[in-house]
Amino acid sequence: MSPIVSIRNLTKTYANGFSALKGVDLDIREGEILALLGPNGAGKTTMISIICGLSTPSSGQVLVGGHDVVSEFRETRRLIGLVPQELTTDQFETVWNTVSFSRGLHGGKKNPALIERILKDLSLWDKRDNKLRELSGGMKRRVLIAKALAHEPRILFLDEPTAGVDVELRRGMWTAIDRLRATGVTVILTTHYIEEAEEMADRIAVIRGGEILLVEEKRELMQKLGRKQLHLELKTPLGTLPPALAALGLTLSEDGRQLVHEYGNGAGEGRIGQVLAAIEAEGLSLSDVSTHQSSLEDIFVSLVEARQ
Ligand SMILES: Nc1ncnc2c1ncn2[C@@H]1O[C@H](COP(=O)(O)OP(=O)(O)O)[C@@H](O)[C@H]1O
Ligand SMILES: [Mg+2]
Repeated sequence: MSPIVSIRNLTKTYANGFSALKGVDLDIREGEILALLGPNGAGKTTMISIICGLSTPSSGQVLVGGHDVVSEFRETRRLIGLVPQELTTDQFETVWNTVSFSRGLHGGKKNPALIERILKDLSLWDKRDNKLRELSGGMKRRVLIAKALAHEPRILFLDEPTAGVDVELRRGMWTAIDRLRATGVTVILTTHYIEEAEEMADRIAVIRGGEILLVEEKRELMQKLGRKQLHLELKTPLGTLPPALAALGLTLSEDGRQLVHEYGNGAGEGRIGQVLAAIEAEGLSLSDVSTHQSSLEDIFVSLVEARQ
């Protein structure tokens, strides 16, 4: 299947000469949730603005649904819903009106049944007659999502949807976004919260300094880099690693006090019993055992540090 968004050698140099995107290549698959993960200033908003046609690329090409975002802006914009990073909505308007007007603005025919379903899906139905100023921060963000959904986009961009939102509401947002997946909408979400990417995404793209460092299935990324280690402290330090233990893939720490058994997510757990039996067969006694698991956070930190 051809990608719903295709980005080729995209660069953006701002008027002051700052280079915010340095040759980005990225394909986004229809129906996936892609997290664009990167620290502040990485170029996330710049990239989204170009895809949505709000900013012009300096070079390169972006196709949305096979149409060029610069020369065929009308076609591409129709496919896209954008939930911007900044909250800019009329605070004195009601939830219902804000969301319905948004559909009209994009040329959609009135469709109260659709608006009702969107508000219910986002748990905003009870608040439909409230003015925006009467809502909490998390609810206002959900109104922005409802606005973006009101014209039935095939692709929804969420730029830092949970920035400044408290932990509980963040979970609510995640549920709301997850529900969208079931409707077949492609979701691209930018975040600098690793936990959010870990929780939500099918694939993760890491961006830093205007460059994509990696794009990978979340599960594969966790499996490839998210190693687990079993640390076995020895009562008596060893000079060398017994061959039977080396054959099981164990390593000995430099001071000879610790045996380390490394295994990937889902693979190698079955060997733990074997490892312990082999240690016993060697007549070694253990003083302590602990496990260590690298999280996406460790992976991300090591990745970003490696490039500095
Ligand atoms: N209009 C602009 N003029 C000059 N530099 C800009 C402009 N907008 C953004 N930048 C710079 O481009 C870089 C990327 O910004 P942005 O895309 O907003 O990053 P992110 O969304 O990942 O935090 C930052 O260093 C930012 O200061
Ligand atoms: Mg941003």
